[in-house]
Amino acid sequence: MQDETGGYHIPVLLETAIEYLVGDADGVYVDGTLGGGGHSLRLLERVGDQARVLGFDQDADAIAHAQQLFQDERRMTLVHSNVVHLSDALTQHDIPMIDGILLDLGVSSHQIDVPERGFSFRHDGPLDMRMDHRHSVSAADIIARESEEELARIFFTYGEERHSRRIARAIVHAREEQPITTTGALADIIATATSPAHRKKTLARIFQALRIAVNDELRVLEETLDHAFAALKIGGRLVVISYHSLEDRLVKRFMRYEAAPCICPPQAPVCTCGKTARMKILSSKHREADESEIRRNPRARSARLRAGEKIHA
Ligand SMILES: C[S@@+](CC[C@H](N)C(=O)[O-])C[C@H]1O[C@@H](n2cnc3c(N)ncnc32)[C@H](O)[C@@H]1O
Repeated sequence: MQDETGGYHIPVLLETAIEYLVGDADGVYVDGTLGGGGHSLRLLERVGDQARVLGFDQDADAIAHAQQLFQDERRMTLVHSNVVHLSDALTQHDIPMIDGILLDLGVSSHQIDVPERGFSFRHDGPLDMRMDHRHSVSAADIIARESEEELARIFFTYGEERHSRRIARAIVHAREEQPITTTGALADIIATATSPAHRKKTLARIFQALRIAVNDELRVLEETLDHAFAALKIGGRLVVISYHSLEDRLVKRFMRYEAAPCICPPQAPVCTCGKTARMKILSSKHREADESEIRRNPRARSARLRAGEKIHA
Protein backbone atom coordinates (compact mmCIF):
# COMPACT_ATOMS: atom_id res chain seq x y z
CA MET A 1 0.00 0.00 0.00
CA GLN A 2 2.95 2.29 0.69
CA ASP A 3 3.63 2.33 -3.06
CA GLU A 4 0.06 3.07 -4.09
CA THR A 5 -0.17 6.12 -1.82
CA GLY A 6 3.43 7.17 -2.44
CA GLY A 7 4.51 6.57 1.17
CA TYR A 8 2.05 9.16 2.50
CA HIS A 9 0.51 6.90 5.14
CA ILE A 10 0.08 3.16 5.64
CA PRO A 11 -3.62 2.47 6.26
CA VAL A 12 -4.38 0.67 9.53
CA LEU A 13 -6.79 -2.28 9.85
CA LEU A 14 -7.46 -1.90 6.13
CA GLU A 15 -9.32 -5.10 5.29
CA THR A 16 -11.27 -5.16 8.56
CA ALA A 17 -12.44 -1.57 8.12
CA ILE A 18 -13.61 -2.09 4.53
CA GLU A 19 -15.27 -5.40 5.41
CA TYR A 20 -17.41 -3.71 8.08
CA LEU A 21 -18.05 -0.60 5.99
CA VAL A 22 -19.46 -2.05 2.79
CA GLY A 23 -23.04 -3.29 2.58
CA ASP A 24 -24.51 -2.18 -0.76
CA ALA A 25 -21.81 -2.44 -3.45
CA ASP A 26 -23.46 0.38 -5.38
CA GLY A 27 -23.97 2.61 -2.38
CA VAL A 28 -22.72 6.05 -1.34
CA TYR A 29 -19.82 6.02 1.11
CA VAL A 30 -17.96 8.69 3.05
CA ASP A 31 -14.30 8.52 3.94
CA GLY A 32 -14.26 11.24 6.59
CA THR A 33 -10.48 11.22 7.02
CA LEU A 34 -8.81 10.66 3.65
CA GLY A 35 -5.16 11.10 4.72
CA GLY A 36 -3.08 9.23 2.14
CA GLY A 37 -6.24 7.74 0.60
CA GLY A 38 -5.35 4.11 1.34
CA HIS A 39 -8.73 3.18 2.80
CA SER A 40 -10.56 4.93 -0.05
CA LEU A 41 -8.47 3.11 -2.65
CA ARG A 42 -9.40 -0.24 -1.14
CA LEU A 43 -13.04 0.81 -0.79
CA LEU A 44 -13.19 1.75 -4.48
CA GLU A 45 -11.75 -1.65 -5.41
CA ARG A 46 -14.43 -3.34 -3.33
CA VAL A 47 -17.52 -1.46 -4.60
CA GLY A 48 -19.22 -1.38 -8.00
CA ASP A 49 -19.39 1.02 -10.93
CA GLN A 50 -22.42 2.84 -9.60
CA ALA A 51 -20.93 3.47 -6.16
CA ARG A 52 -19.85 6.89 -5.01
CA VAL A 53 -17.29 7.94 -2.41
CA LEU A 54 -17.03 11.36 -0.78
CA GLY A 55 -13.55 11.83 0.67
CA PHE A 56 -13.10 14.52 3.32
CA ASP A 57 -9.93 15.97 4.73
CA GLN A 58 -9.45 19.29 6.45
CA ASP A 59 -5.76 19.27 5.50
CA ALA A 60 -4.80 20.91 2.19
CA ASP A 61 -1.79 18.55 1.80
CA ALA A 62 -4.06 15.49 1.98
CA ILE A 63 -6.47 16.95 -0.57
CA ALA A 64 -3.62 17.85 -2.95
CA HIS A 65 -2.28 14.30 -2.61
CA ALA A 66 -5.76 12.83 -3.22
CA GLN A 67 -6.24 15.00 -6.32
CA GLN A 68 -3.29 13.18 -7.88
CA LEU A 69 -4.17 9.76 -6.53
CA PHE A 70 -7.82 9.83 -7.66
CA GLN A 71 -7.46 11.95 -10.81
CA ASP A 72 -8.91 9.20 -13.03
CA GLU A 73 -11.53 8.04 -10.54
CA ARG A 74 -14.96 9.43 -11.46
CA ARG A 75 -16.64 7.75 -8.46
CA MET A 76 -14.59 9.86 -6.01
CA THR A 77 -15.53 13.38 -4.90
CA LEU A 78 -13.02 15.25 -2.74
CA VAL A 79 -14.19 17.62 -0.02
CA HIS A 80 -11.66 19.95 1.61
CA SER A 81 -13.49 20.34 4.90
CA ASN A 82 -13.74 19.12 8.43
CA VAL A 83 -16.07 16.10 8.33
CA VAL A 84 -18.05 17.71 11.14
CA HIS A 85 -19.67 19.68 8.27
CA LEU A 86 -20.88 16.41 6.73
CA SER A 87 -24.56 17.40 6.57
CA ASP A 88 -23.84 20.61 4.62
CA ALA A 89 -21.55 18.79 2.20
CA LEU A 90 -24.13 16.06 1.56
CA THR A 91 -26.79 18.69 0.83
CA GLN A 92 -24.39 20.49 -1.51
CA HIS A 93 -23.73 17.27 -3.40
CA ASP A 94 -27.40 16.31 -3.51
CA ILE A 95 -26.92 13.18 -1.41
CA PRO A 96 -29.84 12.56 0.96
CA MET A 97 -28.49 9.52 2.84
CA ILE A 98 -25.33 7.41 2.89
CA ASP A 99 -24.57 3.70 3.13
CA GLY A 100 -21.46 3.94 5.25
CA ILE A 101 -18.92 6.25 6.80
CA LEU A 102 -15.36 5.58 7.91
CA LEU A 103 -13.53 7.78 10.44
CA ASP A 104 -9.85 6.92 10.81
CA LEU A 105 -9.06 9.50 13.44
CA GLY A 106 -6.03 11.56 14.32
CA VAL A 107 -3.06 12.52 12.19
CA SER A 108 -1.38 10.85 9.22
CA SER A 109 2.25 9.76 9.05
CA HIS A 110 2.78 12.56 6.53
CA GLN A 111 1.60 15.16 9.04
CA ILE A 112 3.83 13.73 11.76
CA ASP A 113 6.88 13.34 9.54
CA VAL A 114 6.93 16.84 8.02
CA PRO A 115 8.75 19.08 10.56
CA GLU A 116 7.02 22.25 9.26
CA ARG A 117 3.65 20.92 10.50
CA GLY A 118 4.90 20.99 14.08
CA PHE A 119 3.13 17.82 15.26
CA SER A 120 6.16 15.92 16.50
CA PHE A 121 8.65 16.42 19.30
CA ARG A 122 11.07 14.27 17.29
CA HIS A 123 11.65 17.02 14.70
CA ASP A 124 12.32 20.66 15.33
CA GLY A 125 9.82 22.89 13.54
CA PRO A 126 7.32 25.67 14.10
CA LEU A 127 4.91 24.92 16.96
CA ASP A 128 1.87 24.70 14.71
CA MET A 129 -0.18 21.44 14.87
CA ARG A 130 -3.11 22.77 12.85
CA MET A 131 -4.58 20.12 10.57
CA ASP A 132 -6.46 22.92 8.83
CA HIS A 133 -4.37 25.99 8.10
CA ARG A 134 -7.49 28.08 7.60
CA HIS A 135 -7.83 28.00 11.41
CA SER A 136 -6.12 30.80 13.18
CA VAL A 137 -5.08 29.26 16.51
CA SER A 138 -1.84 27.26 16.48
CA ALA A 139 -0.15 25.36 19.30
CA ALA A 140 2.25 28.31 19.73
CA ASP A 141 -0.76 30.60 20.28
CA ILE A 142 -2.14 28.31 22.99
CA ILE A 143 1.26 28.05 24.67
CA ALA A 144 1.67 31.85 24.53
CA ARG A 145 -1.80 32.91 25.62
CA GLU A 146 -3.39 30.42 27.98
CA SER A 147 -3.07 30.75 31.76
CA GLU A 148 -1.06 28.28 33.80
CA GLU A 149 -4.32 26.72 35.07
CA GLU A 150 -5.72 26.30 31.55
CA LEU A 151 -2.48 24.76 30.25
CA ALA A 152 -2.48 22.32 33.17
CA ARG A 153 -6.13 21.47 32.41
CA ILE A 154 -5.32 20.82 28.73
CA PHE A 155 -2.36 18.56 29.63
CA PHE A 156 -4.36 16.68 32.25
CA THR A 157 -7.62 16.32 30.32
CA TYR A 158 -6.29 15.60 26.83
CA GLY A 159 -2.94 14.04 27.71
CA GLU A 160 -3.85 12.30 31.00
CA GLU A 161 -0.54 13.72 32.24
CA ARG A 162 0.02 13.39 35.99
CA HIS A 163 2.58 16.20 36.17
CA SER A 164 0.43 18.63 34.22
CA ARG A 165 0.73 21.43 36.81
CA ARG A 166 4.49 21.20 37.06
CA ILE A 167 4.87 21.27 33.27
CA ALA A 168 2.43 24.19 32.89
CA ARG A 169 4.41 26.13 35.52
CA ALA A 170 7.69 25.49 33.67
CA ILE A 171 6.14 26.72 30.42
CA VAL A 172 4.74 29.90 31.96
CA HIS A 173 8.09 30.59 33.60
CA ALA A 174 9.99 30.02 30.34
CA ARG A 175 7.66 32.16 28.19
CA GLU A 176 8.33 35.13 30.49
CA GLU A 177 11.94 34.96 29.26
CA GLN A 178 11.15 34.49 25.58
CA PRO A 179 8.31 33.30 23.32
CA ILE A 180 8.06 29.52 22.75
CA THR A 181 7.59 29.12 19.01
CA THR A 182 9.21 25.81 18.08
CA THR A 183 8.60 22.15 18.90
CA GLY A 184 12.25 21.88 19.97
CA ALA A 185 11.96 24.74 22.46
CA LEU A 186 8.79 23.28 23.95
CA ALA A 187 10.34 19.81 24.18
CA ASP A 188 13.39 21.28 26.00
CA ILE A 189 11.15 23.01 28.56
CA ILE A 190 9.12 19.85 29.15
CA ALA A 191 12.40 17.95 29.59
CA THR A 192 13.44 20.30 32.43
CA ALA A 193 10.22 19.47 34.28
CA THR A 194 10.29 15.67 33.93
CA SER A 195 12.57 12.85 34.96
CA PRO A 196 14.63 11.33 32.12
CA ALA A 197 13.03 7.93 32.68
CA HIS A 198 9.56 9.22 31.69
CA ARG A 199 10.62 11.89 29.22
CA LYS A 200 9.49 10.31 25.94
CA LYS A 201 6.09 9.29 27.26
CA THR A 202 5.58 12.71 28.83
CA LEU A 203 6.52 14.44 25.59
CA ALA A 204 4.10 12.22 23.68
CA ARG A 205 1.28 13.00 26.14
CA ILE A 206 1.85 16.78 26.12
CA PHE A 207 2.12 16.92 22.32
CA GLN A 208 -1.04 14.81 22.01
CA ALA A 209 -2.88 17.11 24.43
CA LEU A 210 -1.89 20.22 22.51
CA ARG A 211 -2.87 18.67 19.19
CA ILE A 212 -6.30 17.74 20.54
CA ALA A 213 -6.77 21.28 21.88
CA VAL A 214 -5.58 23.01 18.69
CA ASN A 215 -7.90 20.95 16.49
CA ASP A 216 -10.72 20.70 19.05
CA GLU A 217 -10.70 17.00 18.27
CA LEU A 218 -13.00 15.62 20.95
CA ARG A 219 -15.83 18.12 20.43
CA VAL A 220 -15.51 17.58 16.67
CA LEU A 221 -15.68 13.80 17.13
CA GLU A 222 -18.79 13.97 19.31
CA GLU A 223 -20.59 16.20 16.81
CA THR A 224 -19.40 14.16 13.83
CA LEU A 225 -20.77 10.93 15.32
CA ASP A 226 -24.21 12.54 15.64
CA HIS A 227 -24.16 13.89 12.07
CA ALA A 228 -22.81 10.60 10.70
CA PHE A 229 -25.51 8.57 12.40
CA ALA A 230 -28.23 10.94 11.19
CA ALA A 231 -26.96 10.66 7.60
CA LEU A 232 -26.90 6.85 7.53
CA LYS A 233 -29.64 4.87 5.83
CA ILE A 234 -31.17 2.01 7.78
CA GLY A 235 -28.62 -0.78 7.27
CA GLY A 236 -25.83 1.80 6.83
CA ARG A 237 -22.53 1.31 8.66
CA LEU A 238 -20.42 3.50 10.92
CA VAL A 239 -16.77 2.43 11.28
CA VAL A 240 -14.38 4.32 13.55
CA ILE A 241 -10.68 3.70 14.17
CA SER A 242 -9.25 5.60 17.14
CA TYR A 243 -5.73 5.80 18.51
CA HIS A 244 -6.10 6.87 22.12
CA SER A 245 -8.43 6.11 24.99
CA LEU A 246 -10.14 9.52 25.03
CA GLU A 247 -11.38 9.08 21.47
CA ASP A 248 -12.18 5.41 21.89
CA ARG A 249 -14.19 6.11 25.05
CA LEU A 250 -16.37 8.60 23.18
CA VAL A 251 -16.97 6.16 20.33
CA LYS A 252 -17.74 3.29 22.69
CA ARG A 253 -20.17 5.41 24.73
CA PHE A 254 -21.89 6.66 21.57
CA MET A 255 -22.34 3.16 20.13
CA ARG A 256 -23.49 1.64 23.42
CA TYR A 257 -26.04 4.40 23.88
CA GLU A 258 -27.43 4.00 20.37
CA ALA A 259 -27.51 0.22 20.76
CA ALA A 260 -29.31 0.29 24.13
CA PRO A 261 -33.03 -0.51 23.97
CA CYS A 262 -33.63 1.20 27.33
CA ILE A 263 -31.85 3.75 29.53
CA CYS A 264 -34.08 3.49 32.62
CA PRO A 265 -32.23 3.04 35.94
CA PRO A 266 -31.69 -0.69 36.60
CA GLN A 267 -33.95 -0.59 39.68
CA ALA A 268 -36.93 0.82 37.69
CA PRO A 269 -39.83 -1.70 37.80
CA VAL A 270 -40.98 -0.90 34.24
CA CYS A 271 -39.42 0.91 31.31
CA THR A 272 -40.55 4.50 30.99
CA CYS A 273 -37.73 5.99 28.90
CA GLY A 274 -39.30 5.27 25.53
CA LYS A 275 -35.91 4.66 23.95
CA THR A 276 -35.35 2.15 21.16
CA ALA A 277 -32.13 0.56 20.01
CA ARG A 278 -31.08 2.39 16.84
CA MET A 279 -27.79 0.60 16.25
CA LYS A 280 -26.50 -2.95 16.15
CA ILE A 281 -22.90 -3.18 17.28
CA LEU A 282 -20.98 -5.27 14.73
CA SER A 283 -17.58 -5.43 16.43
CA SER A 284 -18.73 -7.10 19.66
CA LYS A 285 -15.78 -5.70 21.61
CA HIS A 286 -13.36 -3.66 19.54
CA ARG A 287 -10.98 -4.90 16.86
CA GLU A 288 -7.21 -4.48 17.06
CA ALA A 289 -4.36 -5.00 14.61
CA ASP A 290 -2.64 -8.38 14.80
CA GLU A 291 1.06 -8.85 15.51
CA SER A 292 2.05 -9.09 11.85
CA GLU A 293 0.37 -5.76 11.03
CA ILE A 294 1.98 -4.10 14.07
CA ARG A 295 5.37 -5.42 12.95
CA ARG A 296 4.85 -3.89 9.49
CA ASN A 297 3.33 -0.69 10.85
CA PRO A 298 4.01 0.15 14.52
CA ARG A 299 1.41 2.92 14.36
CA ALA A 300 -1.25 0.19 14.26
CA ARG A 301 -0.41 -0.83 17.84
CA SER A 302 -2.79 1.60 19.52
CA ALA A 303 -5.59 1.31 16.95
CA ARG A 304 -9.07 0.27 18.06
CA LEU A 305 -11.80 -0.24 15.52
CA ARG A 306 -15.49 -0.14 16.38
CA ALA A 307 -18.31 -0.69 13.91
CA GLY A 308 -22.07 -0.44 14.07
CA GLU A 309 -25.07 -0.70 11.77
CA LYS A 310 -28.05 1.64 11.91
CA ILE A 311 -31.19 -0.40 12.52
CA HIS A 312 -33.71 2.30 13.41
CA ALA A 313 -34.14 5.98 12.54
C1 LIG B 1 -5.10 8.74 10.33
S1 LIG B 1 -5.16 9.77 8.93
C2 LIG B 1 -6.20 8.88 7.84
C3 LIG B 1 -5.45 7.89 7.03
C4 LIG B 1 -6.25 7.28 5.91
N1 LIG B 1 -7.32 6.44 6.37
C5 LIG B 1 -5.37 6.52 4.96
O1 LIG B 1 -5.71 5.38 4.61
O2 LIG B 1 -4.34 7.04 4.55
C6 LIG B 1 -6.21 11.05 9.43
C7 LIG B 1 -6.47 12.11 8.38
O3 LIG B 1 -7.73 12.69 8.65
C8 LIG B 1 -7.66 14.07 8.69
N2 LIG B 1 -8.63 14.48 9.71
C9 LIG B 1 -8.58 14.24 11.04
N3 LIG B 1 -9.69 14.70 11.63
C10 LIG B 1 -10.46 15.23 10.64
C11 LIG B 1 -11.75 15.84 10.61
N4 LIG B 1 -12.45 16.02 11.72
N5 LIG B 1 -12.23 16.25 9.43
C12 LIG B 1 -11.53 16.08 8.28
N6 LIG B 1 -10.30 15.52 8.25
C13 LIG B 1 -9.79 15.09 9.41
C14 LIG B 1 -6.23 14.42 8.99
O4 LIG B 1 -5.91 15.67 8.41
C15 LIG B 1 -5.48 13.27 8.36
O5 LIG B 1 -5.12 13.56 7.04
